[in-house]
Amino acid sequence: MPLDLDARKPLKLCVLKFGSSVLQKPDDYARAAHEIYRHTRNGEKVVAVVSALEGETDSLFAVGGDVGEGCSDALLARLVRCGELKSAALMGLALQRSGVPSAVLDPHEMDLQAEGEALDANLTGLDADRVLAHFESADVIVAPGFFGEGVEGPVTLGRGGTDLTAVEFSHWLGADRVRLIKDVDGVYTDDPAKNPEAVRLDQLDYDEAAKVSRGLVQEKAIFRAKQNNVVIEVAALGSPFATRIAAVEKQAGPVETPKRLRVAVLGHGAVGAGVCSHLLAHPGRFELGPVLVRDPDQHAANAPELRFTSDPAEALEGNPDIVVEAMGGTDIARSLSQTVLREGHHLVSANKAVVALDLERLHDLARQHGRELKYSAAVGGGVPVLELIDLLGAQGSILSVEGVMNGTCNFIFGQMQKGVRLAEAVSEAQRLGFAEADPSTDLDGLDAADKLSIIIRHAFGVTLAPDQIACESLNDLSAQRIKAVQEQGLVFKQVARCEVTADGRVEARVDIEALPPEHPFAGLVNEGNGFLIRMPQRTVSVQGKGAGRWPTAEAVFADIMDIQRAYLSGDLHASPLQETPLSRIPRMSSGQVA
Ligand code: NDP
Ligand code: HSE
Repeated sequence: MPLDLDARKPLKLCVLKFGSSVLQKPDDYARAAHEIYRHTRNGEKVVAVVSALEGETDSLFAVGGDVGEGCSDALLARLVRCGELKSAALMGLALQRSGVPSAVLDPHEMDLQAEGEALDANLTGLDADRVLAHFESADVIVAPGFFGEGVEGPVTLGRGGTDLTAVEFSHWLGADRVRLIKDVDGVYTDDPAKNPEAVRLDQLDYDEAAKVSRGLVQEKAIFRAKQNNVVIEVAALGSPFATRIAAVEKQAGPVETPKRLRVAVLGHGAVGAGVCSHLLAHPGRFELGPVLVRDPDQHAANAPELRFTSDPAEALEGNPDIVVEAMGGTDIARSLSQTVLREGHHLVSANKAVVALDLERLHDLARQHGRELKYSAAVGGGVPVLELIDLLGAQGSILSVEGVMNGTCNFIFGQMQKGVRLAEAVSEAQRLGFAEADPSTDLDGLDAADKLSIIIRHAFGVTLAPDQIACESLNDLSAQRIKAVQEQGLVFKQVARCEVTADGRVEARVDIEALPPEHPFAGLVNEGNGFLIRMPQRTVSVQGKGAGRWPTAEAVFADIMDIQRAYLSGDLHASPLQETPLSRIPRMSSGQVA
C-alpha cells in the first residue's frame, strides 16, 4: 500500500476492469488478483471494477422474467445488479487471501449517481473524495460495475455497462489510465476467430474503435472516453501488450504468442505448495517439472496432480526456464541457487537467508549468464517493499527504512496480548505457515536481520551482512517488562531499522519496542508487516500480509509472470542490481553498525 503520508494522495492510480469473459468461474478471481497485485507492486493504487460471473446476468434476467412476468424494468435492474455485487465481494475475498489491502464499496457508499432508463442508464456523478479516502488504508478499491444509484433506486447501464463504469471512474478520479481486461489481447481490425487476416492494433482512435470493436468495448463507454479524453487500454490478463484507444492514428502491433515456460519448484511447503497451485492454474503458460521435497511419497499422497522427487538433479532435469527456490535453509539451497544461475536458468527465490548472504554473488552470476534473479517474496512476503524502495530510490535519497518485517513475531505478540502462552503462540505460527523451519530464527531477530540486509542493499547500495546487525530477541523479554508495557497501554513490536548517519555510515539494528497505540505499526495485526521509508521531503508507508502461503506465493508468482512477460515483449535481460542514488554517498561501500 504505497502511501505518501504527507501528500495523502495515491502516487499513481489506474482503473482495471474485469469483464465476464475473464470471470467465468470462481477460480478466475485468483487470476484477477494476480493482475491487480502486479499493478500495486509497481506502486499503483488500483480501482478494480468487476462484472458479474459469466452467465450470471443472463440467468438473473431469466429468473426475473419467470418470477415476475411482465414486471417493471426497475425491479429487474434491482435484481440483475446482484451479479455484480456478488462478484465484487468475491474479488475482495480473493484479494484478502493474497494479502492485498483492499476495500469493497457498493455504489451507495461512493454516491455513484445514475440517470435514465432503468436498464440503459448513464452514470452522472461520483463522490471522488470519499472514494480516494479509502486509499489511506487500502491499495485497491473494488467496485461493482454495470449499475448506479438512480433517483428511484438502482439502474443498470446496458450490456457491457461495466466498461462505462470503468471509463467514468477513470475520468472522475483523475486516474492515469483505464485498462479493460478481456479474453483477447487487444482490438483487431476484424474478428480473428473468423478472419485469419485480421490485424491486431496497438492503437486506434475512438471512432474507429466504435466501428471495429463490435461490442468488445461498449459503445457508450467509447463515446464518454472520447468526450473526456480518457485513454482506454484493452488487454488480456497478465499481458504486456494492450491496444490503446485514444485520439491517435491507427497503428498495428505484435500478436501475443506466449512461450510455455518450464518451471522447476524446489520445496512444497507453505510457500512452494502455493506457487505450484498458481502454476497449475495457468497450464497454457507453464509446465511444471518434478517438485523437490525430502519425502516424495508423503507429498504424492496429498497432491496427486504433481510429481515429486528428493533428487535435486531430477528436479532440474529437462532444462527448466525458471527455477523457484522455496525450500529454505542455507546449505543445499545456497549451493543450488548458484548452480541454477550458473547452468543458465532464471532464479526466483523466497529464501531471504540465501539472498542476504549471497546477493552480490547471485547478481554477478545472473549477469554473467544473462538470466534473471528475482526475490520479491524474500522481504515483506506479499508486501512489495523492495519494489517501492527501488521506485523511491530512483526519485531521490532514502534516509531510513524501518519496519515490522517478521510476521511470526507480530503474530506472537498479538497472541500474547490475548493471554496465549509463548510456546502455544509459536506452535500456532508454525501451523499457519508463518514461522521459519527453526522458529528461533524469527524470535531472535535473525530473519528480520536477513531482510534488513537486503533492504540496505536496495535502499543505500551498501552491503551489510546479517551477522553485522545487532538483534534483540523476543526471548529476552522479562515478565516484568511485559507486564509494565501492558499496564501502560503500549504494544510490543519487533522493529528493524536502518538509516544513513550524517557522516555517511549505515546503522542497522533489530529491536523489540513498546509502541504507543497511535504509532503506524501499532495497528498491524496477525502476520502483518509494515514499513516506513523516509526521504528528505516525505515519508512513504506500505503494509500488508508479510507471511503465509498465499501472500508469499503471490509475490513469487508475480516474479514468475514478470519473466514470462519479458519473454513476450523481448525485454529479457539479466537483472542488474538496482543502482540507487544513495550508492553515490562517499564511504558507503561497507556499512558499519553503531
Ligand atoms: P517449509 O518448511 O514449509 O517448506 C520447505 C519445503 O522444502 C518442504 O517441502 C521440504 O520438503 C523442502 N525441503 C527443505 N529442505 C529440503 C532438502 N534438503 N531436500 C529436499 N527438499 C527440502 O518452508 P516455507 O515454505 O515456509 O519457506 C520456504 C522458503 O520461503 C524459506 O526460505 C522461507 O524463509 C521463505 N519464506 C517463507 C515465508 C512464509 O511465510 N512461510 C514467507 C517468505 C519467505 P518436505 O516437505 O518433504 O520436508
Ligand atoms: N518467518 C517469516 C516471518 C516468513 O514470519 O515473517 C516471512 O518471511
